[in-house]
Amino acid sequence: MDTCLETERLALRYLTGGSPTAPELVRERHLPNILAGYEKWGGDLGLFAAHEKDGGAFIGWFILRPEPEGPLDEVELGYRLRQAAWGRGYATEGSRALLGKAFAELGVRMVWAETMSVNHGSRNIMEKLEMTLADTIPTPPDMEMVEGSEHGGVRYEITREQWEQR
Ligand SMILES: CC(C)(COP(=O)(O)OP(=O)(O)OC[C@H]1O[C@@H](n2cnc3c(N)ncnc32)[C@H](O)[C@@H]1OP(=O)(O)O)[C@@H](O)C(=O)NCCC(=O)NCCS
Repeated sequence: MDTCLETERLALRYLTGGSPTAPELVRERHLPNILAGYEKWGGDLGLFAAHEKDGGAFIGWFILRPEPEGPLDEVELGYRLRQAAWGRGYATEGSRALLGKAFAELGVRMVWAETMSVNHGSRNIMEKLEMTLADTIPTPPDMEMVEGSEHGGVRYEITREQWEQR
């Protein structure tokens, strides 16, 4: 477990500054929220585990979900992959599939994604997906310890019309 946490510190660099999330917090807050999302959205939206087609190894997860009190046709895209899976195009591949699901199956109007300005890997994915830089955003208070947080964050968006015209 310690080795696993150690190798995932880099994955948390732009999220928590590298610190692992306390297991109690995962058990008591995050997991119940994730499970409640499957109930609420019938499995169409929420958190998606990603596995390699070849061998089935767990490589990380994606989200496609609305804000807690937001409209159902505006959803957030996000991704967190294990370091061992980086650099193989998986984040772009998974995100493309989720954009397709959102627009072609679920009738979503707009997909948005946010990241730290300095998270070039994440921004590259948004740009490869032909999402548009829509805004700059302040760093959330719980992310001020993250390296580069003084540069704030960015928000990218893509509408169904833009997705259809690509
Ligand atoms: C960001 C992350 C999802 C990228 O996953 P990935 O599967 O390696 O990404 P892809 O292979 O699809 O790469 C997409 C593009 O970004 C580039 N890229 C990936 N990581 C990069 C980095 N750290 N710096 C610069 N470019 C990077 C890739 O080269 C690729 O561009 P290319 O096709 O022109 O070569 C992964 O590094 C990760 O999970 N990081 C930790 C969690 C995180 O920061 N999530 C985002 C929070 S908003």
